[in-house]
Amino acid sequence: MSISSLGDKPVHRIGFGAMQLAGPGVFGPPADPEAARAVLRRAVELGVDHIDTAQFYGPDVVNDLIREALHPYPEHLRLVTKVGARRDEQGGWIPAGEPDQLKEQVEQNLRSLGIERIDLVNLRRFERDAPDLAQPALAEQLGALAELRAQGKIDMIGVSNVYADTVRTAIETVGIGEVQNPYSILDRSDADVLELCRAHQVSYVPYFPLGSAFGGGGPNHLAADEQVRAVAAKHEITPSQVALAWLLAQYDRLLLIPGTSSVAHLEENLAVDDIRLDEDDLAVLAGVEQIAVGH
Ligand SMILES: NC(=O)c1ccc[n+]([C@@H]2O[C@H](COP(=O)([O-])OP(=O)(O)OC[C@H]3O[C@@H](n4cnc5c(N)ncnc54)[C@H](OP(=O)(O)O)[C@@H]3O)[C@@H](O)[C@H]2O)c1
Repeated sequence: MSISSLGDKPVHRIGFGAMQLAGPGVFGPPADPEAARAVLRRAVELGVDHIDTAQFYGPDVVNDLIREALHPYPEHLRLVTKVGARRDEQGGWIPAGEPDQLKEQVEQNLRSLGIERIDLVNLRRFERDAPDLAQPALAEQLGALAELRAQGKIDMIGVSNVYADTVRTAIETVGIGEVQNPYSILDRSDADVLELCRAHQVSYVPYFPLGSAFGGGGPNHLAADEQVRAVAAKHEITPSQVALAWLLAQYDRLLLIPGTSSVAHLEENLAVDDIRLDEDDLAVLAGVEQIAVGH
C-alpha cells in the first residue's frame, strides 16, 4: 500500500475508522462482537497501520474490541483517539471539553486500549456541528493536551470538527499532527481547511469520507449520483470506491479512515489504493451535487 505520513510517522494512506464497530447509532455493543473483532484483525492483516477510535464509541465498547482483537499491538500500528465529548444515557453526544475532562478522557483511552502512550489525540470541538454552543477556551484545552504530551502520554495532538482559525492557532501554539474534519465528494465545505493543511504540510484525515451513514446519506447517495456512477462504470469499481479515490487525489497527506463493520467493505475500501482517477474523471466528479452531510 502507498505510504504517506501521520505527522512525522509513516503510515499507509488507507487506515481504518472504528466507529462503525459499535452498535446502532454508535451506542452499545454490536450484535456480533466476534465479527467486529474479525474486521479489526483482517484490517491489520491487510496492512492497515492506522486506526481511529474514541472512548465515546459505544461508549466503552470500541476501544475494548480493539484491545481484545489486536493487543499486543504490532509495533507499526498507530492508534489515534479523540477527546472532548461523552455520551448520555440515551446515546446523545454531550460536550466534555474542559481541561480536566480532557485529561481524564486521555487516561481512560490509555487504560481501555492497554497502552501507556498513544500516537495521537484529537481535540474534538463542537465548532462545526454545534456552532451556537459556547466552546471551552482553546488555549486551555490545547495546554492540557500539551501537558500530557510533555509527560510522554501522547505523541501528537490533533484537532477535529474545527474551523480554519482554530487550526491556525493550534499549528502556531502546540503544533499538530493532523486535522480531522468532515470532507467528502458530497460535502466539500471544508476546502479552506484542507488548503491550510496543504500550506503547512499537516496530515488531513477526513471523517464521513463516504458522506456519512447518519441521516440516510452516504453510500446510498453516492450510488444514486450520475457522475459518480459514470466514473465507477468506466473503472469497473463501486461508487464508494470512486468517492475514496477522489479523496486520495486531493492531497498527498490526506489519510483515509473509512469506517465499516463488514470485511467485504473493508477489502473494497483498501483496494482503492490501486485506483488512479485521471483528469477526465476529476472533471466529471467536480460536478457532483453537494449535500449538507448530517451528524
Ligand atoms: N472526529 C469526528 O468527530 C468523527 C466523526 C465521525 C467519524 N469519525 C471517524 O471517521 C471514520 C469514518 O467515518 P464514518 O465511518 O462515519 O464514514 P462514513 O462516510 O459515514 O461511512 C460509513 C458508512 O459507509 C458504509 N460503508 C463503508 N464502506 C463501504 C463500502 N465499501 N460500500 C458501501 N458502504 C460502505 C458503512 O456501513 P457498513 O458497516 O455496512 O460497511 C457505514 O454505513 C469513523 O469510523 C470514525 O473513526 C470521526
